[in-house]
Amino acid sequence: MRVGIVREHTHQERRVALTPEVIQRLRNRGYEVIVERGAGEGAFYRDEDFQTAGAEVVSSAEEVYQRADTIVRLHMPTEAESAHFRSGQILIGTLQAWRFPAQIEQLRTRRVTVFALERIPRISRAQGMDVLSSMASIAGYKAVIVAAERFGRLLPMMVTAAGTVPPALVLVIGAGVAGLQAIATARRLGARVEAYDIRPAVKEQVESLGARFLPLTLEIDQAEQRGGYARELPEEIQRRQREALASYVARADIIITTAAVPERPAPRLITAAMVEQMTPGSLIIDLAAETGGNCELTLPGQWREHHGVSIFGPINLPATVPLHASSMFARNIEQFLLLFLRNGRPAVHFDDEILRQTCIAHEGHLYPFAEQVQSTV
Ligand code: NAI
Repeated sequence: MRVGIVREHTHQERRVALTPEVIQRLRNRGYEVIVERGAGEGAFYRDEDFQTAGAEVVSSAEEVYQRADTIVRLHMPTEAESAHFRSGQILIGTLQAWRFPAQIEQLRTRRVTVFALERIPRISRAQGMDVLSSMASIAGYKAVIVAAERFGRLLPMMVTAAGTVPPALVLVIGAGVAGLQAIATARRLGARVEAYDIRPAVKEQVESLGARFLPLTLEIDQAEQRGGYARELPEEIQRRQREALASYVARADIIITTAAVPERPAPRLITAAMVEQMTPGSLIIDLAAETGGNCELTLPGQWREHHGVSIFGPINLPATVPLHASSMFARNIEQFLLLFLRNGRPAVHFDDEILRQTCIAHEGHLYPFAEQVQSTV
């Protein structure tokens, strides 16, 4: 199997999908790797580092697409990039396929075999390849750092000769992987933290990090769906949820929102009216900006001000920590690529549950294993 890596430009990308460390191990397992010149620059890897690890460095993305039989990417290829793919080629990446129907259709008609890593099942065997979790951890951490930097006040309590400063109050909405990391980071910086999630199962995890789990009594039936993910709530329940959250939003100094439902737009949890009740100087970091935002005022990729409150909808925060994000992503990919290895030879074996569940196009068919996936998960 010859694996190809190209430079990616989406959302100021600085990560690279495979690192020299991982390439060396893949080479030892019999994989060949071909890398576009400069692909690792943003993450501080030089072409020589890739060559020393055993990769071939070539001068253009076109050459990578032509010669590799498997392409690993951080993002869905653009329509122009998708045109480089050919029948039988394999594409692996965090593609957010549900957001890009045109590209998926293009890849399907070209009979490309496409694996969307966001569909990796949350089972213990797949933990090592769970790119969503590794990137969400980085995003949760970085969201708090960005907030602390912008915030016009201190996060920790400080007792000084010039007076005592109370700790800031941080509210984290959505306590999945990103949210829990945001809670831990805010706590380390000395803030008081409150958190909320519709899945009651996370209460204990929130409390173990030293945060308070908000006692919203909404009595939501079946908040959780398959794989530990949240379910999309009916509009009426979302409205009650916003009402119940309003007073906690109003008193928070910093809000980090991470609420998400797989393959659906983000739930709207904070309205403009709720923002207007916040103290001037407060701020909101909306990690759901890319899928529509948890706050109705969020502008993807931009800071904005509303009634003295700053709101930021970051896009691709993991790319702002390119070295560690690349390293974690590449190790996840390594584990995924090893699924293809049987008797020392890489090949696609669809008897593997993880490959079936992540495969969204194969031999001209969309979601070719949908029925088997339903019955095995
Ligand atoms: P996610 O990114 O899909 O969602 C983030 C959080 O938003 C979730 O905790 C979800 O419950 C919450 N949320 C959704 N709608 C909401 C609403 N209306 N109001 C408030 N909160 C809302 O989820 P993530 O972080 O990818 O993982 C979710 C869970 O999956 C984890 O907490 C864990 O239980 C499980 N998981 C299991 C793994 C494994 O076993 N291998 C690995 C990673 C996660």
